[in-house]
Amino acid sequence: MHKRVVTGDESITCFNDETGELYHNQAGAFTEALKNYVEPAGLAAIAKTGSITVMDVCFGLGYNTFVLLDELRKLGIACEVNILGLDIDEAILSVLDDVLADKRFAELRTFMNDGVFKSEFGVYEFALDEAGKIRIRVEVKQQDIREAAMTLEQDFDLVFHDGFSPYKVPELWTVDLFKRYHKLLDARKGALLTYSAAPAVRAGLRLAGFNVFATTAVGSKHGGTLATISAEDERKGNAALLTDEQEERLKTRSGIPYRDNETLTATREQVMSLREREQQHWQ
Ligand SMILES: C[S@@+](CC[C@H](N)C(=O)[O-])C[C@H]1O[C@@H](n2cnc3c(N)ncnc32)[C@H](O)[C@@H]1O
Repeated sequence: MHKRVVTGDESITCFNDETGELYHNQAGAFTEALKNYVEPAGLAAIAKTGSITVMDVCFGLGYNTFVLLDELRKLGIACEVNILGLDIDEAILSVLDDVLADKRFAELRTFMNDGVFKSEFGVYEFALDEAGKIRIRVEVKQQDIREAAMTLEQDFDLVFHDGFSPYKVPELWTVDLFKRYHKLLDARKGALLTYSAAPAVRAGLRLAGFNVFATTAVGSKHGGTLATISAEDERKGNAALLTDEQEERLKTRSGIPYRDNETLTATREQVMSLREREQQHWQ
């Protein structure tokens, strides 16, 4: 049973015993999904191409997917939407019903014929409008992201990366995983979004070939990160260039990135100690 916690915008999140962290920013689970993921994702432009393909990494309580779907419903642009949600923990899906009970999802729920989303992994298909022009397919799959990243071949428009913090699960924040994302993202439209603003994460994304921008701060936390494949990506208008101070921090010990091996199979301890060794030799 996951302990529910009400966040600052009245949306619920959970406490995770293993990491000692909340699943979301205390300031607001819903707001975090909106400000750090969905708004900077530039959905209207992608929807106009007729299709959107998203990898929702660390699906958890599903906020990033649900807020994205609600935004697409509001935009009303005819398109085919494919979302692959990945998580290792089936038990967390028991909270989806409570998440969707939030009044902000009331309209969205009307298109989800009662209980489309169950507390289990599976494939969910429905439309977001009466005419059936916004067609949705969400697959919520039980798979470790590092394993998935090694085997997936699909071209994605968006990766929502939402692991617990790099301090607790550094193996989900490595240059090597980011390089895999870079390969899996569309060369023109591809972008990754994350709530993390950690220098090690931003430096790792740069090393993996991404262009890095800061997204809006939620609560007292720093903004998250928008990482685009193309340097000319119009979505940088939804975000900000890193400030001089943020750029400087990337060059300090805190900006030393986490590293895995090429098959993404290093243990957590190996990822941590590799970075610690690099930090010891840093000057
Ligand atoms: C911060 S929460 C995600 C919150 C979620 N995105 C939301 O909007 O509700 C982190 C999630 O990562 C999942 N997770 C942890 N390790 C993972 C891994 N190696 N691969 C995939 N998911 C993982 C956890 O089970 C947890 O649900």
